[in-house]
Parts: sequence; structure tokens; C-alpha cells
Amino acid sequence: MEIVICPDADEVGRVAAAKVAQVCRAAETPVLGLATGSSPLAIYRHLQAMVADGRLDLSGASAFALDEYVGLDPAHPESYRSVIHRTVTEPLGLDPARVHVPDGAADDLEEAAAAYDRAIRDAGGVDVQILGIGSNGHIGFNEPTSSFASRTRIKTLAERTRLDNQRFFDSLEEVPTHCLTQGLGTIMEARHVLLVAQGANKAPAVAASVEGPVSSMWPASVLQFHQHATVVVDEEAAAQLQLADYYRHVYAGKPAWQRFA
Ligand code: F6R
Repeated sequence: MEIVICPDADEVGRVAAAKVAQVCRAAETPVLGLATGSSPLAIYRHLQAMVADGRLDLSGASAFALDEYVGLDPAHPESYRSVIHRTVTEPLGLDPARVHVPDGAADDLEEAAAAYDRAIRDAGGVDVQILGIGSNGHIGFNEPTSSFASRTRIKTLAERTRLDNQRFFDSLEEVPTHCLTQGLGTIMEARHVLLVAQGANKAPAVAASVEGPVSSMWPASVLQFHQHATVVVDEEAAAQLQLADYYRHVYAGKPAWQRFA
């Protein structure tokens, strides 16, 4: 696992976008894994700038979102279908036909979930999966005690997650209670995983997931088993990392051929 500590949230976005660009340039037809929420927005902004000035071509890329609410009209501005369209598909100029979000409005949610995993496989798998982390350590909406072997499926949102996401809605009652989310097993099949976190409220989850024992109580800790995992955090999110000085030392001493930002 590579841990990069950045001075601020915008630099987290710049460094993480550089990692995404490196993986995309090496892939013939890149397949992106997309997160929603606040954490990846700076990445999308930096990728947009790279596309705009010709440093990155994503015209052939496809993308798969991590998750979607169940019970929310897909046309609602806070459905992840809408959010991905607004923050990724349009600004990066992706082909909307190649941008996929789990169908949280399907009559048969189990079949929709299985179909989603099949679609990822049929696309050749995800090249780089962008991840935020919940304050309770979730990735996707794999709440604590999610199985490390889990596939895309319906999950009940933890109350903590509903409270955290209340800011996107007018009231807590409006925050959906269920979702379709890629499983931890699905996420772990991505060829690269890239987790970003900013802010002090993420510090306990980052420390437990990066340095703690691997445990389904901190679902992101499963990333310790991934061969190509990059974690990019700002100083506040890094505040509880015991080996922060070591990570800074490693990053500062990286040989040129290993650098991506
Ligand atoms: C979003 C997702 C979640 C978020 C996490 C952090 O698609 O899967 O795991 O990444 O809840 O959310 P923010 O970035 O809003 O703090």
C-alpha cells in the first residue's frame, strides 16, 4: 500500500488525478471505477483540466459507479446516476452510453446487482477504482461487518452514513435507507485501487484501515490485501497515522521512474 500525505485537499485531488491518468494512459480502453460524495470531486476537477488541455484522452473510456440509492427517483438530483452525470460524465466528456450506475430502481434488485457484476466483467474489469471512505470505514456502501467476499448487492445504510449524507438532502427522512453497492470482493478485483480522504472526521477511519488489523469492522482495511493500492490523504485525515513520517520519507525519496505526480 502506498500512502501519500498532501498539504491540503486540492493537492489530494491533483495527486490522485495524476494516478488515475497514469493508469488510463497505460490502458488501451480505460475502465474507470467512480465514487460519488465530496471526496473525489477534486480528482474530477483535475481530470477535467487534463482532458481540456489535451494531456489526457478519455474519449474511449468506460466507467462504473460504486453504488446507488434504492428508493430514490433516478431523476432526483442526489441520485448517484444524476451526480455521476453532473460531476463526471459531462465535465470529462465521457460517452454516457459507457457510464454505468447500478439500477437502484429495478423491480428485481438482486438481478440488477448480478447484472452489474456481469457488466463489469464483460467490460474487462476496472483499471482504477476511485474510492472515498466513510467515517465508519466503509468503501462503496459496504458498512462495517460486510463480507470481504461480497459482490454487488442490496445493503442497508448505517445510521451514521445516513447522518453523514444528510447534507445532500433537505432532511434525514429523505435520505434513503437502502442502496445497491459493489461488494468488497467486486472492488478488490479492480487492477488499481485509489482511496482519497480529506478532513479530520476521516482520520480515525484512515488510521484503522491503513495501519490497524484487517477487520470487517473497518471495511476499507481489506485494501491491505490489494497489490496496487494507493491512499492519498490530506494532513487532517493523516493526523492519526502512526507512521506518517515514514510515508513522507518514502514519498520524498521516490526515484523518478516511480513518480506519477
Ligand atoms: C460514494 C461511496 C462512499 C463515499 C463515502 C465518503 O459513492 O461509495 O463510500 O465515498 O461515504 O463520502 P464523502 O466523500 O462524501 O465523505
